[in-house]
Amino acid sequence: MKKIVILFSGEGSNLENLIKTLHKKSVEVVMAITNNPDAKGIEKAKRYGVDTMILNHKQYTSREEFDTKLVKYIDSLNVDLAVLAGFMRILTPVFTDQIKAINIHPSLLPLFKGADALNRSFNSPMKVAGVSVHKVVSEVDGGEIVAQKCFDKSQMDFETFKESIHRCEHEIFPRAVIEVLNN
Ligand code: GAR
Repeated sequence: MKKIVILFSGEGSNLENLIKTLHKKSVEVVMAITNNPDAKGIEKAKRYGVDTMILNHKQYTSREEFDTKLVKYIDSLNVDLAVLAGFMRILTPVFTDQIKAINIHPSLLPLFKGADALNRSFNSPMKVAGVSVHKVVSEVDGGEIVAQKCFDKSQMDFETFKESIHRCEHEIFPRAVIEVLNN
């Protein structure tokens, strides 16, 4: 069975959905990693028997130093893929040159790359919105797109919009993980 590590920073709804859908069925989630000691996802992972390693970025003086530690730890896990599920850190080439990773982003890339994508997508004049899974490269949210799903947002309030984003993410992310592992 192929092995993955999941990186997250907050709520962990994608983390939970990935574990629920894939763990010990089609992949082994060997570990979760968070940069945030208060991340709600830590408890969620625990519920499914997945341990979380906390690597607090505030304890490092530069992005490179943090990434060096992260890469070393991921290397020690011998995983086939790192899956970024709401991991809110910009990664340097120290990470992107060495770790095979995919990320979920709450917009139809290449639109709304980077921070605050959810609000920017919601407030845009576009009638559609969506989510993307992409390969992680040094350009933020700039890697090859693996999967996308879109929906009509024209009549939505922000709460409904957010729910639709999460529903789309939960639908496409597990499938994208399997697709990348098999290719
Ligand atoms: C998700 O919507 C994900 O697309 C987004 O953070 C949320 C995490 O939710 N990621 C980014 O914005 C990355 N730039 P979750 O913790 O409930 O999975």
